[in-house]
Amino acid sequence: MEPFSTLIRTASHEQHRAAETSTFMSDLLGGRHGVAAYARYTEQLWFVYEALEAGTARLAADPVAGPFVRPELYRLASLERDLAHLRGPDWRAGLSALPATEAYAERVRECAERWPAGYVAHHYTRYLGDLSGGQVIRDRAERTWGFVNKGDGVRFYVFEEIPNPAAFKRGYRELLDGIRADDLEKHRIVAECRTAFALNTGVFRALGDEFPLSA
Ligand code: HEM
Repeated sequence: MEPFSTLIRTASHEQHRAAETSTFMSDLLGGRHGVAAYARYTEQLWFVYEALEAGTARLAADPVAGPFVRPELYRLASLERDLAHLRGPDWRAGLSALPATEAYAERVRECAERWPAGYVAHHYTRYLGDLSGGQVIRDRAERTWGFVNKGDGVRFYVFEEIPNPAAFKRGYRELLDGIRADDLEKHRIVAECRTAFALNTGVFRALGDEFPLSA
């Protein structure tokens, strides 16, 4: 059987393309949205990372999910600094999740609480993506809305404690390859990864609806 890291990557390839080329993402990367759309997107990420990172203390001791729990990946504090920059000191008071975001966060929480292997699927989908394509988004955001390079507004995309993302991703793939799951469970994880991508696409769709661009 091919290494699990290859399996999960190949299985989500099509959906990755769909996420990357979604209307909202294309418009964001194309510099066609105002900063309000970017702030709204960042706000949605807050709910997702809150769900991903709230249960890590417990998951760290889990034999399946534990090895993936790495504090240097945590994004919530960075998101909070970005939101304070984008929305001002009262950012927390105005925080609101789109229904699609609510559904995504709920699914992450469910996995974190009841199915650690499923949690790994969500962990992979977010953090490996942030370490990769996230850098493209940061670059565009800096250019489009004038954020300081790697500064407030785009801290979410800056992994201060991961100086070598390529090496980190190699290590992460080794963890995936050694995951303590049998073949059936591995297939379930891959299916959950597809769900994770679909949930992301759902958020993009909702954001696209909220920020329509006249053609
Ligand atoms: C415009 C948006 C995006 C761009 C430009 C982008 C770009 C990329 C690139 C270039 C890679 C390859 C990195 C490598 O080979 O090491 C990658 C990997 C990845 N991306 Fe994205 N991506 C985007 C959106 C997303 C989204 C929305 C998700 C899911 C939430 C995602 C999840 C992933 C994952 C999980 C990987 C790792 C694949 C693997 O090596 O196993 N990406 N992305």
